[in-house]
Amino acid sequence: MNVHIDQAKQILVANDRGGYTVPTDRLYPFQWNWDSAFVAMGFALYDTDRAYRELERLVEGQWADGMIPHIVFHQPSDTYFPGPSVWRTKHAVPTSGITQPPVFAIALRKLHEVAGRQAEARTLPLYEAALKWHRWWYRARDPEGSGLVALLHPWESGSDNSPAWDIALARVPTTTDTPVVRKDTGHVNAEMRPRDEDYKRFIHLVDAYAACGWDPAKQWKKAPFKIAEIQTTAILLKAGEDLEHLAGLFGRTEDAAEIAGFNDRTRKAILSQWRPKLSRFVSRDLISGDDVEAATQAGFIPLLSLDLDAGIADALVTEMKAWSKGLKVAFPTTKPGIAAWEPKRYWRGPAWAIINWLLIDGLKRNGHPDAAEELRKSTITAIETEGFAEYFDPVTGEGCGGLGFSWTAAAYMWLTKAASTAARVQ
Ligand code: GLC
Repeated sequence: MNVHIDQAKQILVANDRGGYTVPTDRLYPFQWNWDSAFVAMGFALYDTDRAYRELERLVEGQWADGMIPHIVFHQPSDTYFPGPSVWRTKHAVPTSGITQPPVFAIALRKLHEVAGRQAEARTLPLYEAALKWHRWWYRARDPEGSGLVALLHPWESGSDNSPAWDIALARVPTTTDTPVVRKDTGHVNAEMRPRDEDYKRFIHLVDAYAACGWDPAKQWKKAPFKIAEIQTTAILLKAGEDLEHLAGLFGRTEDAAEIAGFNDRTRKAILSQWRPKLSRFVSRDLISGDDVEAATQAGFIPLLSLDLDAGIADALVTEMKAWSKGLKVAFPTTKPGIAAWEPKRYWRGPAWAIINWLLIDGLKRNGHPDAAEELRKSTITAIETEGFAEYFDPVTGEGCGGLGFSWTAAAYMWLTKAASTAARVQ
């Protein structure tokens, strides 16, 4: 057996806290939403029961309105801030009050395909949870029916301190009702983490939404940060395609038509965000009405969920190659060399294995298997050289942030597809 696959599996064992997997010990001691979806796809390669458990435990945190929160606090821990007392949410199991990219249904379809027809009884409740969540996205985060879903907090993007938020976040005050007691900088180098000022704004938003009692309509009116976001919307569309597929398999024709309606609207909306002069798709700041032109990885993620015209796909790939030129590890989350570029600071430059995973699938879908293969190999080499780090400095290749990271382990397994059942997974 490939020794790295063995190590990847050991990381998932070490990060298991009883049917769910923490992203890494201490720095992230709870269950995170999109981390768990990626981890479930890793488990799907060799342990379908455990893969189902991962998603089932995440759904324990689902709210009555359908939202699946970004963190489920199954057990207390004092190594993370902000904990449940800051979020002040009302769900039976303590959770955060915001969400994260909806990778869930993508994982569920893959899992169902490996588990086979006999797994239908186990897939169905998760399918229903996913459908409720997708309805929530369109109701709560696109009340005007634009087809693009909005984020009310940068953490909802999963790209916490991306330069994409700089302009919008600068409008958010640094005042907080809650004392900011950071724990993250006690675990990893502060130079690699978001800045203190960003943290105050992050917590200002939490206070503002807690004051709305976490009611989506009130939050929509009051939100000081509201971005119709391209990466999340593109992931929602891919997940929507997978959900529509499952609805078809289960003979849920009404659901399938409803989901197809969401998908059509979103497909058109994403296309309208294509900017030829940037060779990227862009998000829209719903408060200023401006395009978000910051050069980040998000603008390429629509490759994942659209069958693009060759002209657009080629332009995206040419741009991606220009960003990657001379780097040890692609794909940088910020365009190298621009003012915002910081190759070690979290989402302001580093390469992340799970982003690469999404881009690789998107490049394959859009007729660029060679570019996909190059990115796949570069990701695998980075991990084999540096270990299962949270992310990688694209210039030096150094593994940064937390170590023994669950989603990096899952990405490695998926990208090498070397585990025994891999051949059955598409
Ligand atoms: C950070 C990342 C986010 C991830 C979480 C747990 O907040 O920005 O994407 O889900 O850590 O790994």
